[in-house]
Amino acid sequence: MALPSTIAIDGPAGSGKSSVSFALAQRLGYLFVDTGAFYRAVTLLALRAGKDLSDSDGVAALARSAALDITGDLGSDGRQCTVLANGEDVTWEIHSPQVDAHVSIVAANPGVRQAMLAAQRALAARGRAIMAGRDIGTVVLPDADLKIYIDASLEKRAERRYAQRVGSGEPADLAQISEGLRQRDTIDSQRDIAPLLRAPDAVYLDTTTLSFEQTVEAAYQIVLGWDRHRPAPASAPPGQP
Ligand code: DC
Repeated sequence: MALPSTIAIDGPAGSGKSSVSFALAQRLGYLFVDTGAFYRAVTLLALRAGKDLSDSDGVAALARSAALDITGDLGSDGRQCTVLANGEDVTWEIHSPQVDAHVSIVAANPGVRQAMLAAQRALAARGRAIMAGRDIGTVVLPDADLKIYIDASLEKRAERRYAQRVGSGEPADLAQISEGLRQRDTIDSQRDIAPLLRAPDAVYLDTTTLSFEQTVEAAYQIVLGWDRHRPAPASAPPGQP
């Protein structure tokens, strides 16, 4: 049975989108491309360079000059992909609280987004890819074979992030995480360029009451039944074949 070659998965922070996309990619033997990693890597490089993040032209120029790549190399440290910035492995560093706190501003920079678009499309063009982000189904891959929008309540998303942090031995405060997610939701969905948006032809998957395994299974079933979710071809006008 033919499977969709490109799968776009969008959703808000903490919806489980990245871990579900990764598990799905493993099950299907696809490359998992976490597009948030591109914006995180640019944020890291800008912070390291001491850039003023409100200087959109300066940050966009840095994004254009950066060589960013995502590979399917899983190493042996629990990573879901490998993120390279100018040849350096930054897979873990891009998830620091400092990058968390600044990435939304960088992701709202039109010049940065423009610079990332070509790299993201080139990765998807290789085929057999699951690309996860905020605007994949709407902007990056509007013609993706299958689009899924993964969602969960703010409360549930905060609980998951909290558990993740505690699980990896980091300090965590539930109220603070919840407030951080709420602020990022607002910035990500209200920005002028490529806001977090559910594509009209995306399959909606609410994971609030689902376990991780149930969510992966639900997403897998959506992939198997992808033909049912494709938009019907426009019917030919009367009198034409
Ligand atoms: O999914 P994440 O938390 O790693 O995303 C990091 C930031 O990048 C977040 O502010 C949303 C933004 N982002 C985006 O604007 N577009 C994407 N396709 C992916 C992420």
